[in-house]
Amino acid sequence: MKTVITYGTFDLLHTGHVNLLRRARKLGDRLIVGVTTDSYDQSRGKLNVMESLEERMENVRKTGLADLIIKEELEGQKIHDIRKYGADVFVIGSDWSGKFDYLREYCEVVYLERTKGVSSTDLRSARNPIVYMGIAGYGRIAGRFLRESKYVSNIEITAVFGRNKEKARRFAESHALLEYYTEYEQFLDRVHAVYIAVPHHL
Ligand code: CTP
Repeated sequence: MKTVITYGTFDLLHTGHVNLLRRARKLGDRLIVGVTTDSYDQSRGKLNVMESLEERMENVRKTGLADLIIKEELEGQKIHDIRKYGADVFVIGSDWSGKFDYLREYCEVVYLERTKGVSSTDLRSARNPIVYMGIAGYGRIAGRFLRESKYVSNIEITAVFGRNKEKARRFAESHALLEYYTEYEQFLDRVHAVYIAVPHHL
């Protein structure tokens, strides 16, 4: 009995995932699929997953291609799983080429060609169009908000508003924002939402 093991987030299950699971299964007699837990994804900076672990596991189950579905909770779990389940082949898509060569010490490692033109990232973007945001104010908090916004999918900060033209211009330039405004109404016309980063009394 040849056991194949593979891992993924499998958010918004798509044809790329199904193709991979189908080909992985053909490499052996039994397929084990590890699905990443929410906390593991968060710990590796993947903050935008839309479906819960339960939904993602259920979708993998419904493909009928997995003989066993397990949770992937930790970095470094793969070696433990390969030993525990006696996996002969570790399979992953070609976007990870080379990254799992260290597992060759434990089993065969196969990188399968990724299906072109589909990804969970694209599906998430299609569901949530980009929100263009502006920041009112150019102080310390505004800079911190900008840095943190980079971790949020589908948000783009495009403009800053402030009464002092030179300060607004400098802020826009140093944070690569497209536009700066000193007229509040004009600024509001250009964005979907505003983060207000001025002191409360203003
Ligand atoms: N995969 C694939 N073809 C695709 C997308 C994914 O073969 N078009 C494979 C990956 O290489 C991985 C598995 O499916 O082996 C699970 O990938 P996952 O990261 O969950 O899917 P992605 O669509 O790549 O997700 P994201 O956009 O969030 O990175």
